[in-house]
Amino acid sequence: MSILEKYGPWALIAGASEGTGAAFAHRLAAEGLKLILIARRQAPLEELAAQLRTAYGTECVTASINLAAPDAIEKIAAASEGREVGLYISNAGGDPNGTAFFKTDIRAWIDLVARNVVTVMQASHLLGAPMRKRGRGGIILVGSGACYGGASGLGVYSGSKAFDLCFGEGLWAELRGHGVHVLNLILGRTDTPEFRRHCAARGVPVPSGLASAEDVARVGLERLPHGPVHNWGLEDDEQGRMLQSAATRRNRILAMEAAMADLKIAK
Ligand SMILES: NC(=O)c1ccc[n+]([C@@H]2O[C@H](COP(=O)([O-])OP(=O)(O)OC[C@H]3O[C@@H](n4cnc5c(N)ncnc54)[C@H](OP(=O)(O)O)[C@@H]3O)[C@@H](O)[C@H]2O)c1
Repeated sequence: MSILEKYGPWALIAGASEGTGAAFAHRLAAEGLKLILIARRQAPLEELAAQLRTAYGTECVTASINLAAPDAIEKIAAASEGREVGLYISNAGGDPNGTAFFKTDIRAWIDLVARNVVTVMQASHLLGAPMRKRGRGGIILVGSGACYGGASGLGVYSGSKAFDLCFGEGLWAELRGHGVHVLNLILGRTDTPEFRRHCAARGVPVPSGLASAEDVARVGLERLPHGPVHNWGLEDDEQGRMLQSAATRRNRILAMEAAMADLKIAK
């Protein structure tokens, strides 16, 4: 089955205006999917949509939405209204603060949690329920190796990404019998405009060995049917610098499922 058949006709990308989000948009447009592109800045979204229409004849809609705002889910619902969304990609999720916890106002940390936890959960509910009913679809939660534990300057970010990891694993377990694929795409350092802005703001050179946004989009779509986790650059059974391999995470869920079978939790 083609990507369009599995995950079309519409894909919604939250955090689409640049970097990995834009790379997903290009790849999906090339596969014939229509796109709902979301980010805060309207101008780069419009520019991307124009490129996609010209290059692939893609139908695109754009929506300027702050995913940290309390009304984000209503706006996502309005943007997707009447469109059959078969693929939801949660890409926006970087830490815009990049400081120790006490060096940043608490409101900024609350925004990070609202965007990475609350809105991701709401959008998965909104868009995942019809996928489950249709018996096909996909959800990619773009994550970070920071999900495996906290560190100085990373407490809130790591915590939010740990939520996404566990949440995505739960979704995978619940949806795998319903034809819906779920993947936590756990990235390491990646060459995005946001990462480059962080380096520039600190006056440090951009490190070498970054993953490219295009590779992230390609591998993310390749690995989507093989969730719930892909650890960037690692084979399914390799742990590398991550706490656990993708296979270990999957086997834990399957063992939990077997252990809890007597409770007959409906999926
Ligand atoms: N880059 C890395 O080295 C790296 C490493 C590990 C994991 N990751 C993960 O990869 C993903 C992409 O990271 P990134 O470096 O490209 O940074 P990012 O800050 O997540 O930006 C990605 C996109 O999200 C949008 N966005 C950010 N905040 C938003 C908000 N509040 N509301 C709506 N849209 C928002 C941005 O557009 P606007 O600014 O126009 O809103 C942009 O299009 C994230 O989930 C991140 O955690 C990245």
